[in-house]
Amino acid sequence: MTEELDPVKVMKQEVGRAAAARVQSGSIVGLGTGSTTAFAIQFLGDRLKSGELQNIKGVPTSFQASVLAKKYGIPLVTLDDVDTIDIAIDGADEVDPQKNLIKGGGAAHTREKIVDSLAKEFIVVVDSSKMVDRLGSTFALPVEVLPMAVTPVTHAIAKLGGKSELRMGIKKDGPVITDQGNMVLDVTFAAIENPAELEKTLNNIPGVLENGLFVGVADLILIGEIIEGKPSVREF
Ligand code: 5RP
Repeated sequence: MTEELDPVKVMKQEVGRAAAARVQSGSIVGLGTGSTTAFAIQFLGDRLKSGELQNIKGVPTSFQASVLAKKYGIPLVTLDDVDTIDIAIDGADEVDPQKNLIKGGGAAHTREKIVDSLAKEFIVVVDSSKMVDRLGSTFALPVEVLPMAVTPVTHAIAKLGGKSELRMGIKKDGPVITDQGNMVLDVTFAAIENPAELEKTLNNIPGVLENGLFVGVADLILIGEIIEGKPSVREF
């Protein structure tokens, strides 16, 4: 029986491979979160195993990233151990024409923003469905909130025109709890006119830890596409 190939999975795989191929020996690598970055972590492990790549160290952005790094043999360090991050690879939920992002589909955007912003080069890995003309058009904006502040933050966001929904667990009753022990509001705005301003305004609400707007952080977007039935990777 032949296995049916899922085109989205193929795009994610190819783009993960392309990002992993850009990492050089001796690098400190920010390891992002999500299903696309998972392929990049796997391919980094393959390159280490084959000896093609040597002496890299990973800085994980989540529990998921550290589990995968350990599985694929990538040594890990923390931000206390390194002066700089050479390259970070991470996914995104939306990418606009200015290379601004919405992240946080995996509720990991707080640590992701710390690691990705510190990197000398931040490469975003996405399949073509993530490209949008305007942020917020397909994906609600994730906002990480301290549990005691969920109600006041919801009210403050409503005054800005946002409709908040507490993210609930799957195969777990109750809300999603982040790696930091907080909760996530998924916020829908009619339109995000000025992402840079909204990013700051949201982070200024007491009780908000971080939101998923990444403005001016990405250096390169690698987009997985299927063209005439064949997977390819476009640089943007
Ligand atoms: C996690 C993220 C992910 O990078 C984002 O949700 C994309 O995930 P995927 O590659 O699975 O589509 O921001 O917080």
